[in-house]
Amino acid sequence: MSFDPGGNTPDKSSQQPATIVIFGASGDLARRKLIPSLCNLFCKGRLGPEVQIFGMARSDMTDQEYRDSLAQGVGKFENFSPERSEWEDFISRVHYHRGDISSLSDLNGLEETLRGVEPSGKPANRLYYLALAPSLYGPAVLNLGATGMAREEDCWRRVVIEKPFGVDLASAKELNKLVHSVFAERQVYRIDHYLGKETVQNLLVFRFANTIFEPIWNRNYIDNVQITVSETVSVSDRAGYYDQAGVMRDMFQNHLFQLLTVVAMEPPSNFEADLLRNEKVKVLNAVRRVTPELAPQIAVHAQYDGYLDEPDVPNSSRTPTYAAMRIDVDNWRWQGVPFYLRSGKALSDKRTEILIEFQKPPHMMFPQDSGPNILAIQIQPNEGLHLEFQAKTPDEKMQLRPVDLEFHYDDSFGGQAIPDAYERLLLDALTGDASLFTRSDEIEEAWEIIDPIIQGLAVADAPAPASYAIGSRGPDAADQFLAKDGRQWLNRSWQH
Ligand code: BG6
Repeated sequence: MSFDPGGNTPDKSSQQPATIVIFGASGDLARRKLIPSLCNLFCKGRLGPEVQIFGMARSDMTDQEYRDSLAQGVGKFENFSPERSEWEDFISRVHYHRGDISSLSDLNGLEETLRGVEPSGKPANRLYYLALAPSLYGPAVLNLGATGMAREEDCWRRVVIEKPFGVDLASAKELNKLVHSVFAERQVYRIDHYLGKETVQNLLVFRFANTIFEPIWNRNYIDNVQITVSETVSVSDRAGYYDQAGVMRDMFQNHLFQLLTVVAMEPPSNFEADLLRNEKVKVLNAVRRVTPELAPQIAVHAQYDGYLDEPDVPNSSRTPTYAAMRIDVDNWRWQGVPFYLRSGKALSDKRTEILIEFQKPPHMMFPQDSGPNILAIQIQPNEGLHLEFQAKTPDEKMQLRPVDLEFHYDDSFGGQAIPDAYERLLLDALTGDASLFTRSDEIEEAWEIIDPIIQGLAVADAPAPASYAIGSRGPDAADQFLAKDGRQWLNRSWQH
C-alpha cells in the first residue's frame, strides 16, 4: 500500500482567502451539488468575503451565461433556496473560463486569468475540484503539475478527486502513483460523500462520546450487523458509466465500505485525520480476503428486470444493479460476527440504514420467546436512531412485545436543516481537514477486498445475476443467502 503520511493537521483556515477552481464546471455535479453547497457556505459566512470561484469547461460561455445557467438550479435542489440578494452576492464571485483540462496551453491560460484576479504579488491558496470524467483525472493532475499550479510557495494548493478512484486495485495504485508524482498526500482529498453525511459523523459521536454502547459493541453481545443502501432510482441515462461500474464499484467499494469502517473501527486517540484514517485502514486490513472462486459463497448479485432495455445498456450485459455480501472482520472485536452488506437500484424504498442485531438473552425465563435487541442507525431519510427492546404488554400475563426508543434529528434539533454532505466536505477541504476523505492506502485496501469478488462473479461459469422486479425489496436470492447462515434481513419500517 502506498501511503505518504506528510502530516494532515488542519490549519483551520476557512476564512483564509482562497480560489476554488471547478474543472468540469458545466457538468451535473457542479450544478446540482458543488455550486449549491458553495452558495450555502457563502451565505453562512463560512467562505470568507474574498473567495473567488472559477469554473472551467470546454463549452464557449461568458461569465454571465455561466451564471445564468447556474441560476436555473436555485430553488430546484434540496436545501438550496438562497434569498435573491444572497444569491447575487455569491454569484458575482463566480467566473467562467473556457478550456480543456488536457490542453497545457488552456491551463496556462487559466493560470494567467487566476493570477489576474488573485491578490497581486502573493501566491494564492487554491482548491482544485476535479468534477470530471474519471479518464481525465490523470491528465488533469499531470497538467496541474506541468504548469506549476500544484506548487505550494507561501500558499496551499489542494486537489479534490471524485469517485470512482480507479476501477480495480491495479488502476487505483497507478492513479495514486501518478497523483503522488505531482501532489503530496496531504494535498489530496479523495471524496466519498457518504462520510460527509451528518448521520455518519454522528455515528462516531454516538460510539465514542458515550459510554453505554461501547462495552457491548463487540462479538460478546452483537450477533450480526446489516448495512443497507437501498435506492428507488434506476440507472436511466447513466448507463454509459454504470454498465462498466455495476453496484460493486459504484456503491460497495466506497460508500458501503466506509460505513463498515465507521461501525467497526477502534476509537482513535484523537479526532485527527490520520489517526482516524489509521483506524479505518486497520478494519479494511482485517477484512477476510477471498479468492475469486469463493466469491459466489460470500456474495450474490442481481439485475433489475428491464435493465437491459435502458438506453446504452448492451443486450448481453451481466452488470449487477444489486448485490449482497457477507464480510468477516478477523480481529478480536469482530471475530465470528458477520457484516451483511446490501445495496441496489430500482428498489421499493430509498433508505440507508445500519442495523446492529444483538444476541438473544442466554436463557429465557418467560414462557414466550423474544426477539433480539436491535439498534437501527438511520443514515437517511428520517435521520436518527431506534433501539428496539422487549416490554411487558400491560394488562396481559407475561406477554412480551418489542417497543422502540428513538432519537430523531427533526425532534431534537428543532427541524434544523441537515446540510448536504458536499457542504461539510468542501469546507473541510478548504480548512485542510482531511478526516472525512479517503487516504491512498484506504482506497487500495478497499479495492483489494472487492476485486476478487467482482472477478469471481463475472466469470462465465459463475451464477448469472438473479433478477428482481422494479419496486421490490430485491431478489429472493438475497434472502436465501442469509437463510444459509440461519439469519434474515431485518426489514423494519420504522415510523416517525
Ligand atoms: C453515488 C452513486 O456515488 O451515490 C450513485 O454513483 C448513487 O449511483 C449515489 O445513486 C447515492 O448517494 P445518496 O447520497 O443519494 O445515497
